[in-house]
Amino acid sequence: MWKNKFHISPPSGLLNDPNGLIFWNGEYHVFYQWNPFACEHGAKHWAHLKSTDMVNWQNLPIALSPTDWFDKNGCYSGSAIEKDNKLYLFYTGNVKNKDIRESYQCLAISIDGINFEKKGPVIHNKDIPKEYTKHFRDPKVFKKDGVYKMLLGAQRVDLTGTVIMFSSSNLIDWVFEKEIIKGEFGFMCECPDFIETGDSKALIFSPQGLKADGYLYNNRYQSGYIIRDLTEIEKNNFTELDRGFEFYAPQTFKDECNKNVLIGWMGMPEELDHPSIKEENWVHSLTLPRYLEIFENKILQTPHPNLKKLRKDKIVLENIEVKDYLNLLKYNILGDTYELIVHLDDNFSGDIEIDLRKGKNEKTTFSFDFEQKKASLNRDFSGSGYKGVRKCHLNKLKKIHIFVDRCSVEIFLNNGEEVFTGNIYPNKESLGIEIKGKILFTIPKIEFYKF
Ligand code: FRU
Repeated sequence: MWKNKFHISPPSGLLNDPNGLIFWNGEYHVFYQWNPFACEHGAKHWAHLKSTDMVNWQNLPIALSPTDWFDKNGCYSGSAIEKDNKLYLFYTGNVKNKDIRESYQCLAISIDGINFEKKGPVIHNKDIPKEYTKHFRDPKVFKKDGVYKMLLGAQRVDLTGTVIMFSSSNLIDWVFEKEIIKGEFGFMCECPDFIETGDSKALIFSPQGLKADGYLYNNRYQSGYIIRDLTEIEKNNFTELDRGFEFYAPQTFKDECNKNVLIGWMGMPEELDHPSIKEENWVHSLTLPRYLEIFENKILQTPHPNLKKLRKDKIVLENIEVKDYLNLLKYNILGDTYELIVHLDDNFSGDIEIDLRKGKNEKTTFSFDFEQKKASLNRDFSGSGYKGVRKCHLNKLKKIHIFVDRCSVEIFLNNGEEVFTGNIYPNKESLGIEIKGKILFTIPKIEFYKF
């Protein structure tokens, strides 16, 4: 009842970070951290899927299993790159002997994109620079100015988090180059990444240990970015990528049009009170692919255009008046798997509330408060599972672009200015959609697509 229909989810067990995202030989490859044996963190494998369009996915055999001395306690997160027509995967081999951690940055190569041959560590545990602890992981490899770079999440010996970089000319021999983030950033930074579009560049990473500050940093851990080249970053201009609840460890890749795309983990470390575990023996999904652009020092995220392929049964309403509230049921607009786009007037200056998955005693509410310039997502009445409200500052609301799947919502605002992502576990009869406003207003256009 809660297994998502159009988000990548595990057949059973626990899914976490997206790994090895790449468009290679005409196909998209997605790997993810997977514990096939239990809905808890442990025995991480790399599950593998491919697709020609990022909409229809084909499951492939597990790419990496924790079966060797250098990865025996988990094939942890990493990335993919193409070289000489072969697919190279870089990942962290996690080794634990009686609570003593070792980290190996490992390589596996494939010729056919299905079978991967492990080549073992390219950066050994013993070669981790002495300034860092063994929390040293998540290699993101890419080419910049003719040289291969590897970003890694790291913890300094004083237990502060940072991102560091190695370089290589051949993907085999790696040399420590520098620390990218200077100064303190929580106690650990995971899953670093880097994007460039034109002259704009951003370092993306997932810091752990930031203190909540008003609307900011309210989740257990964060994922966000600093607009900056790979020079040493002193100042803390960190912006969260998502304003909702479950969003962590995102990774980017280039699509077939050479545009930056991001997929995140719709989950949060150390939070396993999800009802799908007890009821259905699986937990967590990946987010939809999001198209990234950088505009005026901000990353904008919009649903990848390929997702239009999911659209069926289109319903369009125009110039709809909302008095107190509007129940969309009368237009046959309802469901648990759909895309809903509410286009507002450019000068919209009212408050609006949209209840999703509305049932007898349930609703998941997106709202915008014009006076306070505040957007929020409330899942206090969503059903089972975690509760709470998340908020962000938003000057103007022009467009609300919503994807509802069986146990998740992703809400993109305006041109991708903000996104709210979260898991909800409503009753299967809670299918209603209602729009409310304080004053009479007209919605120029509502688009609805059942999936
Ligand atoms: C992030 C993370 C990574 C690690 C992986 C292990 O969620 O903790 O740092 O490689 O998960 O599954």
